Amino acid sequence: MKKWIERLTEEMSDAFEKAGYDRSYGKVALSNRPDLCEYQCNGAMAGAKAYHKAPIQIAGDVVGQMQGSSIFSEVEAVNPGFINLKVSPEFLADYLKEMAADEQLSVEKTDHPKTILIDYGGPNVAKPLHVGHLRSAIIGESMKRLGRYLGHKVIGDVHLGDWGLQMGLIITELKRRSPELVYFQEDYEGPYPEEAPFTIGELEEIYPAASARSKEDEAYKEEAMEATHALQQGKPGYHALWNHILQVSMADLKKNYERLQVTFDLWKKESDAQPYIPEMVEYLKEKGYAHLDQGALVVDVQEEGDTKEIPPCMILKSDGASLYNTTDLATIVERMKLFDPDEILYVVDKRQELYFTQVFRCARKAHLVKEDTQLSFLGFGTMNGKDGKPFKTRQGGVMRLEELMNDICQEMYQKIVENRSVKDENAQETAQIVGLSAIKYGDLSNQATKDYIFDVDRFTSFEGDTGPYLLYTIVRIKSILNRYVEEGGDMQQGSLQVPSCESEKALMLELVNFAPAVEGAFADKAPHKVCSYLYGLANAFNRFYHETKILGEEDPKQKGSWIQLLSLTRRVLETSIDLLGFSAPERM
Ligand code: ARG
Repeated sequence: MKKWIERLTEEMSDAFEKAGYDRSYGKVALSNRPDLCEYQCNGAMAGAKAYHKAPIQIAGDVVGQMQGSSIFSEVEAVNPGFINLKVSPEFLADYLKEMAADEQLSVEKTDHPKTILIDYGGPNVAKPLHVGHLRSAIIGESMKRLGRYLGHKVIGDVHLGDWGLQMGLIITELKRRSPELVYFQEDYEGPYPEEAPFTIGELEEIYPAASARSKEDEAYKEEAMEATHALQQGKPGYHALWNHILQVSMADLKKNYERLQVTFDLWKKESDAQPYIPEMVEYLKEKGYAHLDQGALVVDVQEEGDTKEIPPCMILKSDGASLYNTTDLATIVERMKLFDPDEILYVVDKRQELYFTQVFRCARKAHLVKEDTQLSFLGFGTMNGKDGKPFKTRQGGVMRLEELMNDICQEMYQKIVENRSVKDENAQETAQIVGLSAIKYGDLSNQATKDYIFDVDRFTSFEGDTGPYLLYTIVRIKSILNRYVEEGGDMQQGSLQVPSCESEKALMLELVNFAPAVEGAFADKAPHKVCSYLYGLANAFNRFYHETKILGEEDPKQKGSWIQLLSLTRRVLETSIDLLGFSAPERM
């Protein structure tokens, strides 16, 4: 269906044309003086120079052509040459009827679907999922859902970190604790046990212990580095251990992501890219993209016009070992081969921005991607505690995601129980749903690139710009609609009428902004735009709700219209929170 703002602009452009001016001046935008009008057109100001006329004269001419418009009910030329507009209530109601009949709620699926691969996991195997990986998951999941809603083919990849030093550290620590295990016996030829020699709980204790030890004990660190190397060379015992670590850890990660309602289509790992490395390195050397610099193999990525230095992208260290860069470049090669994406989007901590600049430039320079393949980076800021420092546990340790979720849900549970209306048996379940909204909305409502303060009290509040407030609004609508049906009302009956009061019109005018909010959020990689839209919509609804006795209305036609309006509002709210990655409970 035709976009709302385009319809308004079309009407305006017709009037410019009829008055003898160019159509292109007829652009209509939201009013920046909502006290005076709903929309405005500044075309007369823009055209003054071309037509050698005072803007107000042009505005007057145009307004003269708009009497009897079926789209605008008020059109006024005001000094120095603005055209102030109010939308016709009939036109607004008709548009919303069309929107309600549209499965996509007026959001058009793109004519040019792209294949977009989003890299938004990045947890490191064997380390528990911690809050550092929360933002990537939350923002990436939302970008994926937005992209799909707009008709793109989006592939989500978790891209596990399974190939670094953490593996060598765990192997070294295991060897120190249980040297008798077959994995460490040089003459053992297999087969290796099916069961892992550790549980996830043990694994989570082993890694930090090993990591701490390596910082104090140089020889130990050396050993861990050697173990990493041996693993990467395919040493069978280590490879078997790595497999165990992967299995045990992945099961736990999946559980955590599931709880966050974050899903991935691909559970690929850094190690999956390793087979592509030798050929890629050969190619880079052969084509002359890479050269040796103090024994290391590097690709220069400095470009003309750079205002700061962009260091070369290192492909191999002087000892021949590959690096994080190497893996990411080989992963690009793999992704191009397997999925041929139009775009690869990385949702990663913004501290890795320079690093990704190097990787992208190198991939482009060496033609590892096609000319028109987009490589994009959505860098996010740090989640801080109330002290402004990176979020920690009360003891000062790294906060595990599970712990954070438990804390929030516990907090939510308390609030819900205090809010007596819910029967106890559902309270736990409801607390999980509302808790998730608190976390996700708390995160997404901030511009991704900025640091933000994770404020449990604020995020779990039922008032203000929070997830629970939105859910509360949805639940409120659901309960009115349920009651309507219980009282014998028919949801299929009833048709949207013109707004009956100012707050109803304001709500209706918010509803038509759904499509631009979704489109803008995706185009700008800015899910917070959906959040601010939602907050405005929820406020508009609540204002209308407090002024209107919906179920008590005597006139069946009016009541039926409001029920349709509520039902549309509910759909827009629910669709929007789904795009953000959470859902609403039945009651709260
Ligand atoms: N595992 C990395 C980390 O914890 C994040 C990976 C991000 N994705 C990527 N393709 N490099 O820092």
